[in-house]
Amino acid sequence: MMQLNAQPARDNLKGLILSGGKGTRLRPITHTSAKQLVPVANKPVLFYGIESMVAAGITDIGIIIAPETGDEIREAAGEGSQFGASITYVPQAEPLGLAHAVLTAEEFIGDSSFVMYLGDNLLQGGLVSLTETFKSNSPDALILLTKVPDPEHFGVAELKDGKVVQLAEKPAEPKTDLALVGVYMFTSSIFDAARAIEPSARGELEITDAIQYLVDSGKTVEPHLVEGWWKDTGRLEDMLEANRQVLDGIVHDVQGELIDCTIDGRVLIEKGARLERSVVRGPAVIAAGAKLVDAYVGPYSSIGENVVVERAEIEYSIVLADSTITDLGARMEASLIGKHSKIARTNGMPRTFRMLVGDNCEIGLV
Ligand code: DAU
Repeated sequence: MMQLNAQPARDNLKGLILSGGKGTRLRPITHTSAKQLVPVANKPVLFYGIESMVAAGITDIGIIIAPETGDEIREAAGEGSQFGASITYVPQAEPLGLAHAVLTAEEFIGDSSFVMYLGDNLLQGGLVSLTETFKSNSPDALILLTKVPDPEHFGVAELKDGKVVQLAEKPAEPKTDLALVGVYMFTSSIFDAARAIEPSARGELEITDAIQYLVDSGKTVEPHLVEGWWKDTGRLEDMLEANRQVLDGIVHDVQGELIDCTIDGRVLIEKGARLERSVVRGPAVIAAGAKLVDAYVGPYSSIGENVVVERAEIEYSIVLADSTITDLGARMEASLIGKHSKIARTNGMPRTFRMLVGDNCEIGLV
């Protein structure tokens, strides 16, 4: 049947997750792994985005991938059945910007409206109320904003009478403290906007500029202030903070084997983990295959699969799979330890450690 009404379709939303890019700020972890796969509470950041799409009824999901890390992302998320979704991978040859990534996905999106989710972002409130607002108010785009103390690191929005008037990508002198959160809703009008703009000073086609183009051409761009927390996990401190926020919501469930241990607070210990003469003070998660001996794991820690912690104390840290931490002379805190790392004290008594350690590293402490 011919469509007389030119209104873009807002039912049957598709999802687009951007998991390309370089991840320079989380090096060396991202030398060998995609930043979107770094786990928060032992689950890859990317999975939170997929799950919140599915929870909002969006099951046709495209994921933008880069040549270097695409295979790893495909392997982790698969064809989507583990989430109740269907995933289509969209390779982007070079990280030429978020608007470039949108253009790369044009064939996948077609004339559908869609939710775009930056693969390294975490949004606590989910997408349900946003998709409902998008459907009922029918804007051409809906952007999410939140107040931040350091707006110069984000896209920044200026509002007037509740309407978006000006957007700027990482301005040196931000006019407001309203940052663009990495979750957006678009109709297919975004494609013409992305084609109309020029690369920015950093050489990228900025989604911020494409949205500004929509504003300038009289389209409706609806701002939505985020309630609850949001994190761009691109930096170590943000990753640890995201881990803290997610762990704050975990449910106590101890399945692993405990021998002479003390467990305080909400703790998730997976089946197959083994703890001997150790203290775990939640919120914390300990994955299957982990082994703790004479260890202390303190609040806001995520211990990955097959990690060994022996005669060591860890707090407010993320330890990725297959790493070994032994005989630390002081409590390790605020650290992100990559996969297959070995940290062991040789001698001396350092008081605290603060590290960003890449995959396959070995560290001997003096
Ligand atoms: O986190 C929110 C911020 O995200 C917004 O406030 C900014 O306006 C927006 O430009 C973006 O800034 P970032 O500099 O943090 O974006 P980043 O380069 O980290 O890329 C975000 C995600 O998109 C990340 O998962 C990698 C992916 N990406 C990035 C580029 C440049 C792609 O898939 N393709 C790309 O070409």
